[in-house]
Amino acid sequence: MPLVSLIEMYKPANAQKYAIGQFNVNNLEFVQAALEAADEMKSPIILAASTSAIKYAGLDYLVNIVRTGSGKISAPVALHLDHGATIEDAEKCINGGFTSVMIDASHHPFEENIRITREVVKMAHPKNIAVEAELGRLGGIEDNVSVSEKDAILTDPKQAEQFVKESGCDALAVAVGTSHGAYKFKGEAKLAFDRIGDIKKRIGIPLVLHGASGVGQDLLEKAQKYGAKLPGAKGVPDEAYIKAISLGINKINIDTDLRLAWVGAVREVLANKPEEFDPRKVLGPAREAVKKVIIGKMKLFDSAGKA
Ligand code: G3H
Ligand code: 13P
Ligand code: ZN
Repeated sequence: MPLVSLIEMYKPANAQKYAIGQFNVNNLEFVQAALEAADEMKSPIILAASTSAIKYAGLDYLVNIVRTGSGKISAPVALHLDHGATIEDAEKCINGGFTSVMIDASHHPFEENIRITREVVKMAHPKNIAVEAELGRLGGIEDNVSVSEKDAILTDPKQAEQFVKESGCDALAVAVGTSHGAYKFKGEAKLAFDRIGDIKKRIGIPLVLHGASGVGQDLLEKAQKYGAKLPGAKGVPDEAYIKAISLGINKINIDTDLRLAWVGAVREVLANKPEEFDPRKVLGPAREAVKKVIIGKMKLFDSAGKA
């Protein structure tokens, strides 16, 4: 089916308390892997392109590959801008065929974050395009950090209430202890679950968990077996997704896990078959590995069977 607005996809997810996975894509194989997974799992799906993915692949290439793939399946697909840094980034995607945009002005002062987000909402809503904003700073909650330091990093529930009211955003990315990449926690994985619940009670709209990759042992072991160097990598445990969803998370962003699956599979082929030089033989198994990870997340996020 044609691409669907994330505004529409959020409604049943919020009402029925499940999360839709956001899977970052950069090229044809990632898009195919994600859409095959959505089709097989009968799951709604969000494909996301960051500004660097857009720079790498080209906005029109990405939009057209995603549209083509979406047209072949009956599960709802949204195309989302991940971490748009400026109003111009968002505008290009709003006019270019995306059905959701993130404006990440979280590094600006609070009032400026509201103003920038509101500008994007004004452009997006007449086209029924969803807007995700971010409040707080992503980062681990270290044991030796004081309460006031934690408050400076994590999303403040009261501020979130004011932010959503004044900006008009459709979804809010919250800082609750996760961070991007493969090195999320030095010790135990800790998420500020109480904050998720408190923020949800105050604002009601879908909350988004960034930096949510699991960095599973299976992915790490395979990549490392074939030469990857990832000492100390650590991610979000499976139980944390389930708890976060029960408290109000409706969108979970996964990029690192797909990259780890991809690199493990590519390294395996190159290590085991040094005579191989057909790109399809190298990238085909990687596409399958990415698809397998996405299927696992759809089951965990409870979006499987919801399409
Ligand atoms: O949030 C960051 C995403 O993982 C995208 O990363 O900017 O390297 O495409 P990227
Ligand atoms: P990970 O690096 O944990 O996959 O997070 C991705 C993300 O938040 C994209 O916005
Ligand atoms: Zn992110």
